[in-house]
Amino acid sequence: MTTDMYDANAEWYAALVAPWKEDTDRTLREALGELAGGDVIDLGSGIGSSLPVLRDLGAQRLFAVEPSAAMRVGLMTTVAADADLRARTTIVAGGVPDAFDQLPDTWQAATMLNAIGHLSEEARAALWRTLAERLVPGGRFVLSLQPPAIVSDIPWTDFGTFAVGTRQLATRGRAEVMSETHVEWEMEWSLLDADGAVLETRSARHPWRVLTPDQLTTEAEAHGLKLLPHGGADSFLAYELTGRVVGE
Ligand SMILES: C[S@@+](CC[C@H](N)C(=O)[O-])C[C@H]1O[C@@H](n2cnc3c(N)ncnc32)[C@H](O)[C@@H]1O
Repeated sequence: MTTDMYDANAEWYAALVAPWKEDTDRTLREALGELAGGDVIDLGSGIGSSLPVLRDLGAQRLFAVEPSAAMRVGLMTTVAADADLRARTTIVAGGVPDAFDQLPDTWQAATMLNAIGHLSEEARAALWRTLAERLVPGGRFVLSLQPPAIVSDIPWTDFGTFAVGTRQLATRGRAEVMSETHVEWEMEWSLLDADGAVLETRSARHPWRVLTPDQLTTEAEAHGLKLLPHGGADSFLAYELTGRVVGE
């Protein structure tokens, strides 16, 4: 039995994120700034939507870390369709923290967009430790957050309907409080025909660790990373490694 929570929507993922891509790319560019070559790590890369931006900002080599086999179909398609990305991108089948031993010792920058809530407390601690050990001085880590901002129920919410040819993909979701730290997201995707009739509906549930910018910044600072102001969306946080913390 598979436990891949992205099995249900990986086939449709490229269409689901397409409407947000322009804004996400712009914010990522602002948050990361120009890169002086080096190795850049995209943690929870999904279908590799951020890789062209990371390359354009100056990454020499890219490492796309992705545990979901279903998502890696899209990831390999993104990478292989672009000869330059194919030459510089290594796809690492695994997640945080298990994938760390397949990654280089020195990172120019790292990103983790819309994925940090999947990590256990231990995995997140390992992430901060590894960033402190491997980022170059002044290297940046950019992450983006997903709702809810605080642990709370979210009623069924329409996340939009996006056309692909004559078909439409509709997404909705709701969140329920599971504990003081987690909600459970229930997501539902429907494929509609040109008349709006439902052809297929899929759903998935997953726990999500709710983290506020303040909580993340406290953790980051304990590892020598400082929050940077940037002009982008509130849901994006950019940290810079300013120094090693004694004992690291
Ligand atoms: C909402 S998707 C975001 C994908 C991509 N970063 C984006 O913004 O389009 C979350 C991704 O995190 C991945 N993920 C889940 N657990 C992970 C872990 N422990 N380490 C790294 N990635 C993980 C999932 O497989 C999924 O591809």
